[in-house]
Amino acid sequence: MQTKQTDLNYVANTYGRFDAAFASGSGASYTDEDGRKYIDFGTGIGVTLFGACDPEWVAAVTTQLTTLGHTSNLYYTAPQAQLARLLCQRTGMKKVFYGNSGAEANECALKVARRYGKDKGRHVIVTLRNSFHGRTIATLAATGQDKFHAHFGPFPEGFRYVDANNPAQLDEAFAAGDVCGLLMELVQGEGGVIPLEKSYVQHAAQLCSEHDALLMIDEVQTGNGRTGSLYAFQQYGILPDVVTTAKGLGGGLPIGACMMGEKCEFTLGKGDHGSTYGGNPVCAAAALNVISRLNEEVFEGVKEREAFIRKELEGVRGVNGVTGMGLMLGLSVDKPAGEIAAACLKDGLMVLTAHEKVRLLPPLNISFEDLRQGIDILKKNL
Ligand SMILES: Cc1ncc(COP(=O)(O)O)c(C=O)c1O
Repeated sequence: MQTKQTDLNYVANTYGRFDAAFASGSGASYTDEDGRKYIDFGTGIGVTLFGACDPEWVAAVTTQLTTLGHTSNLYYTAPQAQLARLLCQRTGMKKVFYGNSGAEANECALKVARRYGKDKGRHVIVTLRNSFHGRTIATLAATGQDKFHAHFGPFPEGFRYVDANNPAQLDEAFAAGDVCGLLMELVQGEGGVIPLEKSYVQHAAQLCSEHDALLMIDEVQTGNGRTGSLYAFQQYGILPDVVTTAKGLGGGLPIGACMMGEKCEFTLGKGDHGSTYGGNPVCAAAALNVISRLNEEVFEGVKEREAFIRKELEGVRGVNGVTGMGLMLGLSVDKPAGEIAAACLKDGLMVLTAHEKVRLLPPLNISFEDLRQGIDILKKNL
């Protein structure tokens, strides 16, 4: 495998890759450099929502690319403005800042919270243990997992961690009156596909409101139709002050968004934040295509596919439980998840892991035939 050797020689040694080099993809099917076919239950970690090289998405991207590819944020561009309008209309948020990744979307959220609390003398940001918010220094600090903190300190100060689904700990974290924001995922993705309880999330929203702190929901992984609604918060009966997203937003091109609600829409002013590429017209056109296609029919389809997967895998030997929402599912398994994922790949199925679980993030429109075939491969390797 020449690609593998060249990669090992020259690409930074930060990824533990599976033993496959992909040459092409179409829908839920990928082909490696040796011509072997694979079914995709991973969507490039929750990115290619409508499958690889989805024709409508490709058309939207290429049209924009051959019309206006980049201008910087010194000028107005239509795809950015239209996407922001659509996101605000569909979420109840008021303003959108664009970055290029989930980490950058969260960096923006952290800055919004700090700026919001600054004049009131509050700077602490509360996050959950077992969370994941990104790989930059500040988003690593926000990430409540010690293993990410081992080698890269000192980190920025002012983060406080609490256990998920523990309202008493949350009350305690807010008690000193120094909290400017709470950042959390509604389904902890990298942490093992663990959904938060609705009552806990509503308690958190109430607490933020009482303490004039920003309720910030990280929808980098849960967002953009993945859980069966446009954003997962819409199933929790809350309206956050900040929603961050990325991954599936661009459907395969890098774009992240930090959406700000009424409480903080004017918190950042001119010069407070920026990004050269953020909201680049091609990436914004890609996201506009994705968001305008995510409708009730797609969400129904997500729920039907979730039900199908659960029916097939719940109670099967080797599976001790299925967690998650929509097409963001985690399987508690008997064997090490990494071994299962590697064995599935050998048999032509791409799956992900999250901590000790096998994680499934298939395309939202995957055919039931592909689902069936993939599940058969998975069952064989459990
Ligand atoms: C919930 C959550 N937040 C943030 C990130 C970071 O996103 P990115 O890798 O695009 O920076 C991830 C990535 O897995 C994520 O799952």
